[in-house]
This record gives sequence, structure tokens and C-alpha cells, in this order.
Amino acid sequence: MTDQAPVAYTGPMRVLSGVQPSGALHLGNYLGALKKFVALQEQAPTFLFVADLHAITVWQDPKSLANQTREIAAAYLAAGLDPAKAAIFPQSAVRAHAELAWIFNCVARLGWLDRMTQFKEKSGKHKERSSVGLYTYPVLQAADILIYKATHVPVGEDQKQHLELTRDVAQKFNNDFAAPGFFPLPDPLIQGPGARIMSLRDGSAKMSKSDPSDQSRINLLDDADTVASKIRKARTDPDPLPETTEGLAERPEARNLVGIYAALAGISDAEVLSRFAGQGFGAFKPALVEVAVEALRPVGEAMRRLMNDPVEIDRVLAQGADQAREVAEQTLAETRALVGFWPGRG
Ligand code: TRP
Repeated sequence: MTDQAPVAYTGPMRVLSGVQPSGALHLGNYLGALKKFVALQEQAPTFLFVADLHAITVWQDPKSLANQTREIAAAYLAAGLDPAKAAIFPQSAVRAHAELAWIFNCVARLGWLDRMTQFKEKSGKHKERSSVGLYTYPVLQAADILIYKATHVPVGEDQKQHLELTRDVAQKFNNDFAAPGFFPLPDPLIQGPGARIMSLRDGSAKMSKSDPSDQSRINLLDDADTVASKIRKARTDPDPLPETTEGLAERPEARNLVGIYAALAGISDAEVLSRFAGQGFGAFKPALVEVAVEALRPVGEAMRRLMNDPVEIDRVLAQGADQAREVAEQTLAETRALVGFWPGRG
């Protein structure tokens, strides 16, 4: 692709991530993403958006899209994100994302997109009936990241390929437009295996908002009784808990429940086992219920309070969009100049 060694980016560290407003947020999102964002907002300017442009790559009911966007914002705030440290905004409110995505559509190659496994999964057997947006989804994702010259992107393992494409786009743009180091080559921050929360029904599948069974996940808005009943019905095996974490290797359901306990209580898997080794799930599940209900109560309560105050959420989103726009417009102006567009006011 390029002969020159890429020139290193020397700008400031910036953190960015996005969550799609489709389906309810669950424990996996909370432990794997939101809590991580809360820690990162202390380290660098942080940009967190609700990916509504990405959501419409598959059909979304126009009557509920804005409220789903507010719900994600409420979850961000309930998890402890601080609008003074992190800009929280709807992607569609910052028009520069879409404009940069068009320019990147002309940088990215068809061959790169043809390799994207998420498109293959999402489009299924009927590729020709998918939206063009679904195909070019990773290019928009590259624009989301690079419009802020973000350097660190906390995402799940499944987004690794999209981050590689983002780096390819950045490198080709910098090279094609003779602007070494203009865009950073951002690093994914992939959640550690400890934070990988699996389905309550199948320890080998990720906890997911698209799983048809609601029993498979704990939603952030589930009440205490629902949380308790889902944990009581969670799939397990008949053996008692082992002494060491190696004993969990071939027991995905047991490992998942131990991991959930550990993440919620802020301790290691080994510490959980030191407390519960030799005990069966009849004893462990009630203890897990207690920890889960306690940890999730303040998050659920804060979310419900915010959802009853959409004016407050909209104020946060508008303020976040203003902050984001300031950075995004600057990058877009520089990019337009590099591409050679007519410099007058459009
Ligand atoms: N594709 C991401 C997901 O489904 C959401 C997303 C969109 C995103 N744009 C992004 C994540 C930019 C990180 C950075 O999880």
C-alpha cells in the first residue's frame, strides 16, 4: 500500500467509543464497556457517542429512535460518566461524521470491505437485500474515530477488524494526501477476558442484546426480582465450585457466573473461589443474586430517574454535541483543505 514508513502521530491522547441505540443495555455492556469508559475519562479527553447513524443501517422505527438514544445516554450517566470530562452526544448531531465518511468511502478499497466478517454475519444469506450503509458501516466507524483524531478506542473483541480498517484508512489517507502523521493510527483497547460476560443460557455465547431469549441477559433496567429469577434459572453444571481457576477451564457456565461475581464485587476469580470452593450452585447463586442486586440497584435507579427527565438528558446531549463539534469541525476543515476542495464557504 505504501512505501514510506508511517510518520508517528504526535497529537494528544484522546479516547473515543460509541454504542448503538438498538435494544436494552445489559450487564455485559456495563462491565465490559461503561465501567471502562468511567475509568478512562480520568485519563484523557473522552468522546462517547450514541451511534444512531450506524443503527439505521438496519431498519429502526422512527418513533422510538430518539428515545433509544436518550436511554443510552441515561446509561452512560448512570454508570458514572461525567459530562464535564466526557462529551456525550448523538452521532447524527455532529454532521462532520457523515461528511468525513464520504471522503473515506473514496479512500477505502472494496477489497478491504469484502473481508469484513461482521457484514457477512449481519447480511446473512441475502447480501443483495442489505442496505449499502451496512456494507460501508466500517468506513463510517473510521470517520467517527478519526474526526476526533482519537488515539485510544475501547471496544469489544468483535470490533478489532473495524479498528484495523480504521488504521488502514488513516494510513492511506496520510499517504495519498502527503500529510504524514495527520491522522493517528488508533489503538483498540480490548476488554480483558475477565470482563467477557457470557449468556446466562449458554456459557460459550456472548451476552448480547440481540439474543432472542431475555433470560440470557441481565438488563440494566431489570428490577431486583427479575435479576434474582434470571440468576436462579441460569444454566450451570452439577459439580461444586473448584479450588482454583484452572478447574473452571472446561466449565463455561460456572466460569461465567464466577466472573460476573468477581467483576461486580471488584475481586478476582481466585478470590471468589477461595470463598466458595466446594460449594454447589445452590449456595453460590443466592450469594451472586445478592451481589448483583446490590451493584445494579444504583445504576437502574439512576437510569429510571433520568429517563423520567428527558429535558435533562437532552441538555447533556446538546452540550456534548457542542463540545464534539468544536473538535470535529477543525479536523474536517483541515481534511477538506488536504483533499483540495474549493476553499470558500459552502
Ligand atoms: N460498531 C460499534 C459496535 O457495534 C459501535 C461503534 C460505531 C463504534 N462507531 C464506533 C465503536 C467508533 C467504537 C468507535 O459496537
